[in-house]
Amino acid sequence: MPLHLMGRSYIPVSSMSSSSSSSPQPVEKIPNQSSEDPVTAVVEQIPITFVDKSGKEILVLATVGKNLLEIAHEHNIELEGACGGELACATCHLVFERHIYDSLPKKVPEEDDMLDLAFKLTDTSRLGCQIRVKSYMIGMKVQIPDDGY
Ligand code: FES
Repeated sequence: MPLHLMGRSYIPVSSMSSSSSSSPQPVEKIPNQSSEDPVTAVVEQIPITFVDKSGKEILVLATVGKNLLEIAHEHNIELEGACGGELACATCHLVFERHIYDSLPKKVPEEDDMLDLAFKLTDTSRLGCQIRVKSYMIGMKVQIPDDGY
């Protein structure tokens, strides 16, 4: 009889084979519907807060490794991202808390060029499509600046 644990099925060797093994060892049965390994597919999510243009705080669970534009769109948060993350606009402009901003990876020159076009640029502004969520960002708040539209 298969044992089901964490999305996987295990079948004891003794029930799969006619050998006379006296100590059955569990053998993993790989699900054939998907090539995705259920164990490595486990994702880490952390709570972060977007503060929208009106000042409303929106708490979301953000998947570690995704960028903030993707996270905003997954949660129907109004952050345009006109170029789809190709560093050809500034419509994914976000303002970070200082301690988070200081921990972010350095900007590439193209991001600086686009930020120069951003409305209400601050000294902790970055483009959301360029910032991937990391575990240490748990609890952070990011502001979506009011671009006047
Ligand atoms: S979506 Fe255009 S630069 Fe981020």
